Amino acid sequence: MTYFVALNYSNRVHDSGLEDDLHTLAQMFRLKRTSGELPEEARFLLEYEPNGHNYYAVRSSKHGLISGNGAFTRREAPPPDAQPRLYDSELDGKRLRAAELSLRSPADAQDILTIAIAETLNDRRLRARQILLLTIPLQTIFILGILSLVWLGVTRGLRILEPLTRRLAGREHELGPISGADVPVEILPLTQTIDALFARLSTVLEAQKRFMADAAHQLRTPLAGLRLHTERALSDPSPETLRDALEHIHKLTGRTTRTAMQLLALTRASNPPDATDDSTHVDLALLVPEIVGARVQEALHADIDLGYAGPHAGAIILGVADSLRELLDNLIDNALRYAGAQARVTVSVRHLADGGVALQVEDDGPGVPPELWSRLGERFFRAPGAREGGSGLGLAIVGQIANQHHARIVYSSAAGGGLRVSVQFPPLPA
Ligand SMILES: Nc1ncnc2c1ncn2[C@@H]1O[C@H](COP(=O)(O)OP(=O)(O)OP(=O)(O)O)[C@@H](O)[C@H]1O
Ligand SMILES: [Mg+2]
Repeated sequence: MTYFVALNYSNRVHDSGLEDDLHTLAQMFRLKRTSGELPEEARFLLEYEPNGHNYYAVRSSKHGLISGNGAFTRREAPPPDAQPRLYDSELDGKRLRAAELSLRSPADAQDILTIAIAETLNDRRLRARQILLLTIPLQTIFILGILSLVWLGVTRGLRILEPLTRRLAGREHELGPISGADVPVEILPLTQTIDALFARLSTVLEAQKRFMADAAHQLRTPLAGLRLHTERALSDPSPETLRDALEHIHKLTGRTTRTAMQLLALTRASNPPDATDDSTHVDLALLVPEIVGARVQEALHADIDLGYAGPHAGAIILGVADSLRELLDNLIDNALRYAGAQARVTVSVRHLADGGVALQVEDDGPGVPPELWSRLGERFFRAPGAREGGSGLGLAIVGQIANQHHARIVYSSAAGGGLRVSVQFPPLPA
């Protein structure tokens, strides 16, 4: 770049020198210092050029070439007494720079003289190279200076991370926030992102820890029961005792399996939705009748009238279909289990005034006394006198899934005195 800037500069200086020479020559003709042929000294001065060669040509419109030392290529001559014209020219494959002007011959006003001079480009290139060589040491110093400043800046800049690095190295298993007073503002967005990640991780770890504690606690009792009944059967192998023990074992394993499944479902539902959230538009008016339909057989078996009331299209919410299935399955489970034979269970979907959608399950069974509604959804809470077989986790799962969907759960008494659970989903974002 420096070379081309220098060359450009050198070209300008040489062009202006060329013009000056041309003017001097023209002046000689104007002042009648010459009639055509140039004196020996003037020719020498015109031609002489230490690093190359100069050429000239004087033509008359009446008499043709009067004087010259080289047939370099030319352009059309400028009009008489106009400014000199500069152009690139050539002679025997060599590139030249030429200047040309015209004037009326002082001896004969009808005769137009055209004077052109040209020079080789060697000197121009030589000057540009000299400028380049002069600037190289300066530029080297300049670049080295900048490199050391950058190096210094980066090492110093990274040094501000040292306190944070030391603090993090001192940690063992904590997932608390790492943003603090010693965190430079430049990296605050980074540490805040890490904090948010830690917060999500903590919830997952918390859910897993709780799962392990709950599992250990909840499985201990039925396992002890299983052991008791097997021991009883082993010590008294009479057919009656055997059968009775087996029945107990059967019931206990069923309940234990249910508890394990519900615990897993609750842990799954307690994990925060991750960044690749698989929420989609779900039409409850399609999903709900399908789930209800799948359980009609089971309800008939238990002598319960299970039905769906509501639209068959157009109740769209943003959600995860599998989670919603889990939620509804738990509500239907409860209604079927606690309402008792000959009950009527109605699952319905309806639009809310705020544009949201409500999913409702109600039965005409014994219900839950209103003072206990606030406790429904607590882990392992079971209403006093509830039919055995449940693990007390169903409504906690419902609560977690509703939470993930930003939905609200409202408990109320159904017309027949049974329980009505309404899950109210917010309207779709605009
Ligand atoms: N439809 C209902 N009618 C009467 N009581 C209910 C009804 N639904 C829930 N309950 C009461 O609420 C309690 C909590 O219900 P939840 O679904 O959380 O647990 P569960 O049914 O006991 O066990 P799980 O569903 O985990 O097997 C139940 O034990 C029951 O006492
Ligand atoms: Mg339940």
